[in-house]
Amino acid sequence: MSDAMKSAAPKRVLSGMRPTGRLHLGNYMGALKNWVALQNETLPDGSPKYECYFFVADYHALTTDYADTSGLKQNVRDVVLDFLAGGLDPARSVIFRQSHVLPHFALHNLLEMITPLSWLERVPTYKDQQEQLREKDLATIGFLGYPVLQSADILIYQAEFVPVGQDQAAHVEITREIARRFNHLYGGKGKVADAKSDKERLAELEQETDVRQILPEPKVLLTPSPKLPGTDGRKMSKSYGNTILLSDPEEQIRAKLKTMVTDPARVRRTDPGNPDVCPVFDLHKVLSSAEVQAQAAEGCRTAGIGCIQCKGWVADAVVAELKPIQTRRAYFEAHPAEVDAVLHEGARRANVRASETLKQVYAAVGLE
Ligand code: TRP
Ligand code: SF4
Repeated sequence: MSDAMKSAAPKRVLSGMRPTGRLHLGNYMGALKNWVALQNETLPDGSPKYECYFFVADYHALTTDYADTSGLKQNVRDVVLDFLAGGLDPARSVIFRQSHVLPHFALHNLLEMITPLSWLERVPTYKDQQEQLREKDLATIGFLGYPVLQSADILIYQAEFVPVGQDQAAHVEITREIARRFNHLYGGKGKVADAKSDKERLAELEQETDVRQILPEPKVLLTPSPKLPGTDGRKMSKSYGNTILLSDPEEQIRAKLKTMVTDPARVRRTDPGNPDVCPVFDLHKVLSSAEVQAQAAEGCRTAGIGCIQCKGWVADAVVAELKPIQTRRAYFEAHPAEVDAVLHEGARRANVRASETLKQVYAAVGLE
């Protein structure tokens, strides 16, 4: 094979989601829809642009919910159903559960050996989450090590791109730092066994130009995340109880949107409103056609339409967006054996790729 042909090999993409239950519109618009787009991108010759791995981070669920795992099984099932419903295609993407691919945990443990505690303590999500989830005891190794496990998830596939939202950017950054440290420690040529102090050795390795990139540093592919408010006007989030689920029936979608907050200054039907400050209009911006948006904005400013009508138009757009998703979900709900087969085949393919990296890692560390 010529070099030109080799460089056309698809770039590896990996991302994951914690199993928090049925996905909502915010999860879809802010992550899943983008994964599906990446999965479907092709090169001019029609071949896939990316080799995609998407997984349910079921171990990560245990970092916060270790004390009560009663919902885990159903939550994983719901997320997998929503992955497939949302358009992830097992013929194009490797779809799997983290817990089915043991090399994640072997690499996780090796990365723990080399990761300084101070790096983990300064990850912004660490203290934030502890404050937010005060009712849970998160003074565990597992919770502190969350980003190390995430690093292992990424590095075990030697992934080049990690599509995530801004909230996960710090985790990809620490993944890069851990990869760099690993490569410095174990990718040097024949210098691993010398007796110098760690500090001297790292200083020396900084100068090296011939460090092997055993674990390449992944790049974040920031998902453009349009503002997607929930029914109370705050960011759509499970913990606020303001979500529209991908699997909500049409009647429920319409009922939820009917009670959504609007421009508070528009009290009576005859008061003109301001779409720029209305969360309903933020949904229009993400989901409605340009014509409907223009009509809604104009009608709002002139009091030509009422909020009920405006919300009805948003509901139409949401229902249209979710219709093909719900049709696919119904299919997979009725064919559970097919879902099992997807996970089985995904685990097999993920294990093949992950075992290849682990072999290289073992050799580099001296564990073979
Ligand atoms: N931490 C991610 C989240 O909460 C989930 C996740 C786990 C992940 N491992 C990953 C995302 C690896 C990208 C790559 O959404
Ligand atoms: Fe919001 Fe629409 Fe009502 Fe205007 S008409 S305040 S944009 S819901």
